[in-house]
Amino acid sequence: MHEAALQLLKRTMDDQLARTEHPSDFPALPPIPAGRYTDPRFAALEKEGLWDRAWLLAGIASELPEPGSYRLFQHLDRSVILSRGKDDRIRAFHNTCRHRGSPLLLEEEGRASRFVCPYHSWSYALDGALKAVPSQHDFACFEKSDHGLAEVRCETYRGFIFINFDDAAGPLREFLGEFVALTEGYPLERMVVKDRFTVEMDCNWKIAYHNFLEIYHVNTVHPKTLAPHLDSRSFVIALYDGGHMRFGTRKKGGVSLFEKPPVQPDDIADVFLENTVALPTFPNTFFSLDPVGFNLQCFWPAGPNKSIMEVRQMGWATDDDADREYWGEMRKATEHILSEDLCLFSSIQQSLRNGALTSIVTGYQERALYWFEEEIDRQIGPDRVPRDLQVQPRLGSYSTPHSE
Ligand code: FES
Repeated sequence: MHEAALQLLKRTMDDQLARTEHPSDFPALPPIPAGRYTDPRFAALEKEGLWDRAWLLAGIASELPEPGSYRLFQHLDRSVILSRGKDDRIRAFHNTCRHRGSPLLLEEEGRASRFVCPYHSWSYALDGALKAVPSQHDFACFEKSDHGLAEVRCETYRGFIFINFDDAAGPLREFLGEFVALTEGYPLERMVVKDRFTVEMDCNWKIAYHNFLEIYHVNTVHPKTLAPHLDSRSFVIALYDGGHMRFGTRKKGGVSLFEKPPVQPDDIADVFLENTVALPTFPNTFFSLDPVGFNLQCFWPAGPNKSIMEVRQMGWATDDDADREYWGEMRKATEHILSEDLCLFSSIQQSLRNGALTSIVTGYQERALYWFEEEIDRQIGPDRVPRDLQVQPRLGSYSTPHSE
């Protein structure tokens, strides 16, 4: 972690541990309208303002180990091919044949030397160029060079692949902002995916994501699993431009949440050994930089009242039986902890949907939720959000400057 960011973390954590009252200079946060989680109008605004414009975590470079490796990104009513080319470059393409729109790839992952359409066998090179069209003489005035695959913006930061459906979006690194300084000393680029699973949820994607934006629930929901390892009184939050955040929580006794894996780098900065440092990255991704590895979570909408949590268990590269056994146990532990949270989400959504709850109340410890909701309105454009669904901006002056 960059030195300035580290000093801020230490200073605010000391202040937080000494705090016994509501901070006198912090505002009361207005209620957040329930319609943001149920109203199709708001979901449509999110599509235009977030999902069609933001950088989205779509994959991990180690999931594409060699030229020809591919994986499909299948969220947001999209199907996108992530592929490593012969030149080793990772690219993204709409998984749509330029002839009549058949998907080119049907398997979620694999290896291909060309993309051959299963409908009429048009075939494309790994760089997206159309290479062969059966009976091409039947297509008058046809140029193959005009019919290459439609590319999607794709950039990689330290092994994490992001895509953006907006050709006019700024560079990924600019979007990530403070993430760059906060991850110094944590070897992200050496991580591999140990396991991967998805969970379908009967709630709006933001209701699920909220759960990971506060620690207020941990002593109640996870008394035997997470609470014994985390000093929740030490929980500190930094709010950054663009809706990104940094959380820090001191580990009780400095121990990790999980047993040490058989393989772990010895060059991880002390701050990550002593604290749980989590980085909610706008709009929908949650990193938690533990030395044993972490669950990388992405939250995707599947309609106003349904969503998908995509979990990748990220660890350190090795091919070792003990390590496989360790990650098998980690999967069970993760699913158990998640089940403690997940059992509440559909009922929360029901209350928001049926009018039993017309707005959400957030306190000081939950200010990250509010910052996240404010940012959604900023991205959509506040004037475009119907008045009855707006969040009143309150936290702009509480954001943290960048370290460099
Ligand atoms: Fe792909 Fe016809 S739709 S070749």
